[in-house]
Amino acid sequence: MSDKTIRLTQTVKGAGCAAKLAPGDLDRALCGLDLPVDENLLVGLDRADDAGVYRISDELALVQTLDFFPPMVDDPFSFGQIAAANALSDIYAMGGTPKTAMNIVAFPGKTMDISVLRAIIEGGLNKLREAGVVLVGGHTIDDSELKYGLSVTGYIHPERILIKKNLQVGDRLILTKPLGTGIVTTAIKAGIADQEVTGRVTQAMATLNRVAAETLEAFEVHACTDITGFGFLGHLAEMVVDSECGVRIWPDRLPLYPEALEWAAMGFIPAGAYNNRNFRGKFVDFSATVSQPVQDLLFDPQTSGGLLIAVADAEADRLVAALQANGIGSAAIVGEVVAQPIERIIVE
Ligand code: CO
Ligand code: CO
Repeated sequence: MSDKTIRLTQTVKGAGCAAKLAPGDLDRALCGLDLPVDENLLVGLDRADDAGVYRISDELALVQTLDFFPPMVDDPFSFGQIAAANALSDIYAMGGTPKTAMNIVAFPGKTMDISVLRAIIEGGLNKLREAGVVLVGGHTIDDSELKYGLSVTGYIHPERILIKKNLQVGDRLILTKPLGTGIVTTAIKAGIADQEVTGRVTQAMATLNRVAAETLEAFEVHACTDITGFGFLGHLAEMVVDSECGVRIWPDRLPLYPEALEWAAMGFIPAGAYNNRNFRGKFVDFSATVSQPVQDLLFDPQTSGGLLIAVADAEADRLVAALQANGIGSAAIVGEVVAQPIERIIVE
């Protein structure tokens, strides 16, 4: 049995996707590198999309991604579930079907009981089973801090890849999960989040984006991504920068955890939110009515966040209704794609 007294979040510095290297630093590391050129590499590092895509034949391509991070919740089984849901999410965001996965583990074997690792891997397996994905292997190293995640491989049709950079003027933007997991998990780590909110947010982070991805297949979706470490505005910026259009966001319609707004106002904001704002803030115009806590929430790094979907205007209401009918109650239209000003995000 696992040791119930251990609080995983107290054993690590970062938490979940908030532990990502600052996006500007990653850009500096990759900038100017001689990246591979291959006619079958349909989506690679140069495109900065959710996952890489490699064509096998005219009908089949591989879609591959990996994600791992330190724990953002205290319960090992839940951490495993969340890490798996988060790793699978990039496959769903591309419109792919995940097939196989491998565990990536860094474990402090000298200070933590091995039963903790067992519970984490059980949590991961639980979500892989739900996704219909087979665990085929993994790699474990001894490390001072716990980290867990997976690399995931899936199938995708080479002509049905949902990329980020394909916004069309008039599209409506739909978000499928509430924002604020970075702020809430900062509060969990600080010990001020009660069991009810911890349970609610843990369950949302452990929810697969599978149903959302399957629902949108029947609609005219132009672009899609998932909201993770760069926050809502960071990931939205990846859709808008170098495009021919801009977006307007309606913050009153954003699904969010009310507790996150409260705690943001109290200063429980992960460092990643500041990194995200420093990197992408220059593309964003906030109207004077958008409060500081709402701005912080929009840059808050999300762990296993929802899909952000650009869908043809005429289909937007029907897609939201279909998502809600399929159990995704927080799905909402949160903005629109506009012709002007290009490459700008206006938060009204
Ligand atoms: Co992603
Ligand atoms: Co990722």
